[in-house]
Amino acid sequence: MANINQNYLKLPGSYLFSEIARRVNVYKGDNPQADIISLGIGDVTRPLPPAVIAAMKKAVDEMSIPEKFRGYGPEQGYDFLREKLVENDFKSRGVDISIDEVFVSDGAKNDTANFQELFSLENIIAVSDPVYPVYIDSNVMAGRTGELNVKGQYDNVVYLPCTEANGMKPTLPSTKVDMIYLCFPNNPTGVTLSKEELKEWVDYARANKAIILFDAAYEAFIQEPDVPHSIFEIEGAREVAVEFRSLSKTAGFTGTRCAYTIVPKDVMLYDKLGEAHSLNSLWVRRQSTKFNGVSYPVQAAAAAVFSEEGKKQVKELISYYMENARIIRVALDKLGLKVFGGVNSPYVWLKTPENMKSWDYFDKLMKEANVIGTPGAGFGASGEGYFRLTGFGTRENTNKAIERIKAKM
Ligand code: MLT
Repeated sequence: MANINQNYLKLPGSYLFSEIARRVNVYKGDNPQADIISLGIGDVTRPLPPAVIAAMKKAVDEMSIPEKFRGYGPEQGYDFLREKLVENDFKSRGVDISIDEVFVSDGAKNDTANFQELFSLENIIAVSDPVYPVYIDSNVMAGRTGELNVKGQYDNVVYLPCTEANGMKPTLPSTKVDMIYLCFPNNPTGVTLSKEELKEWVDYARANKAIILFDAAYEAFIQEPDVPHSIFEIEGAREVAVEFRSLSKTAGFTGTRCAYTIVPKDVMLYDKLGEAHSLNSLWVRRQSTKFNGVSYPVQAAAAAVFSEEGKKQVKELISYYMENARIIRVALDKLGLKVFGGVNSPYVWLKTPENMKSWDYFDKLMKEANVIGTPGAGFGASGEGYFRLTGFGTRENTNKAIERIKAKM
């Protein structure tokens, strides 16, 4: 008899964004005429930049020429792309990352979910609350957590509440943890940490031999000059951090798929005898066994993001989405709602009017305004009473959504 991985039984029925899609589809089924605007899942709406399209087409053509055709590529990504990533994302900020510390993949979601495999199941994870659900769910599936309790939290996980009282910024854990998930600019709250604040985490990890799994998927949206783009801008982070990056939101790759993870060679995991093992080597071992790399045309397209025209076009894309975020933030603020994010992040996190429950507000906006957002409670217990809107819509839909929200206040 084939038995189930019991850990899957601890999970709620469906993944947050699948649940939202399900509810929207039911509503659409009952109201086929409804003109729904989605500012829910962070999915981009602008086409890929022309420089990216040109590079992808050229690469596809090469695949038709016997001398240029490529079969399996290196699992860690082609050097032509990894060199560009090192140069543009890290060297330009004075951060020393070598090419064999860069792992190209098909998504930061997968990488953040898969990375936990390298750690002992006895390790304790710490997550911000609210949190991007993938960090938690992947650890539940692996068996690193206890059961879901009445508070809607898993036993054996350290939750770090992000509330108005702490400015939506997690505070250092008071009990010992081994794996710390941080995401800045934060999904869902849009809040960022200063270098000094991030340094506290790096110092904590160094003192406690913990490892920080740092999700920087939204770093390209940072507008203010002093906000760190990479955890590796912080002294000592090379010993204790891994960083996840993505072109999904930065360059419109949500459907094209290309991301990259930085695993410095200085980070170590310890075995039962206390002997150190290189995390970088373990990730090479994992990826070369379970992953066959990103397709050549997609990597060629990704490299074009860092060409002169590509950089200019991506900057325009980001400005477009950040203007949407500004429009949302300013409008909600004028309505008297408490708003976070939207300054260095495409996400705007708002306190629901009249202390409505997140899912009630979701239903209200869907039914009365035909606007879809993401209920804060879907990101964790501390997200209850909050709601997330994204700047990733079209300008026209963003403006329309705001008018409709205003009308239904
Ligand atoms: C989100 O809306 O939080 C993201 O789009 C989800 C993701 O990137 O997987």
